[in-house]
Amino acid sequence: MTAPEDLADRVEDGRADGGSPSPVLRVHGLTRTFGGLTAVDSVSFEVMPGERLAVIGPNGAGKTTLFKLIAREERMTAGRVEFNGKDISRIPNYELARLGMGRTYQVTRIFPALTVQENVMLAAQGTRRGRFSMFAPARGNSSIRDPAREAIARVGLEKMAPITAAELGHGQQRQLELALALAMEPIVLLLDEPGAGLSASERGMMRELVASLPADITVLLIEHDMQLALGLADRCICMHNAKVIAEGTPEEIKADRKVQDIYLGKALE
Ligand SMILES: Nc1ncnc2c1ncn2[C@@H]1O[C@H](COP(=O)(O)OP(=O)(O)OP(=O)(O)O)[C@@H](O)[C@H]1O
Ligand SMILES: [Mg+2]
Repeated sequence: MTAPEDLADRVEDGRADGGSPSPVLRVHGLTRTFGGLTAVDSVSFEVMPGERLAVIGPNGAGKTTLFKLIAREERMTAGRVEFNGKDISRIPNYELARLGMGRTYQVTRIFPALTVQENVMLAAQGTRRGRFSMFAPARGNSSIRDPAREAIARVGLEKMAPITAAELGHGQQRQLELALALAMEPIVLLLDEPGAGLSASERGMMRELVASLPADITVLLIEHDMQLALGLADRCICMHNAKVIAEGTPEEIKADRKVQDIYLGKALE
């Protein structure tokens, strides 16, 4: 695909508003088996542009696998994913990033020996592959430097820009990871447990960051911290044993008997 087509795809109905809005993401019958184990079982849902969707559920429910299937990091056994009306079920992962699918990981993926700025610029450059050579001097290229600077500022790491990622605290590394995803200017952002392993105050800061993401970015958020998840979400799906067992507003999810049974003993307030 050429760069101009790529750009047209991004603008098509993900950000421009022509007529009634259609889902930015449509997941239909998504299934993944590993040998005899079904990790994701016939999962279907839709997400509207700009929506914040929380994906909750106990350990092993299939949440991360669901994200990997949507992001084309894992092969689906059955089903279909549409992104901006386009069937992406068979396209390669790197194409998807260029179309505007961003993702952070449960386990962080940054280069410790590189500075914060270099990490973010690499991410910004990665999504522009084809328009720029990987080996071009990125430092002088404003179309990479500007989104990188903006992403660093958005997560509040300006002062850390010249410091190597290895020197950052754990919470700052999670901020950096969010900056990596933002530098790729995503239309849809998949956040896998951005609060994992953080202290209460760091989690509060991450909550603020996620809450302050630009309204036009659609966010899917996996989060074990129920307060954080339901506080940020417009809508929520709850997975259990590979299936979606409940879907609704945070209030509906809190009131759902099946959800309450799963989280028995854990306060949903
Ligand atoms: N590559 C794999 N090979 C075999 N089984 C896998 C693989 N990836 C995931 N699974 C299994 O699929 C199920 C769902 O795993 P997944 O990581 O998606 O759960 P999760 O909801 O993200 O859990 P957690 O909350 O602990 O992160 C688990 O039983 C897991 O062991
Ligand atoms: Mg997981």
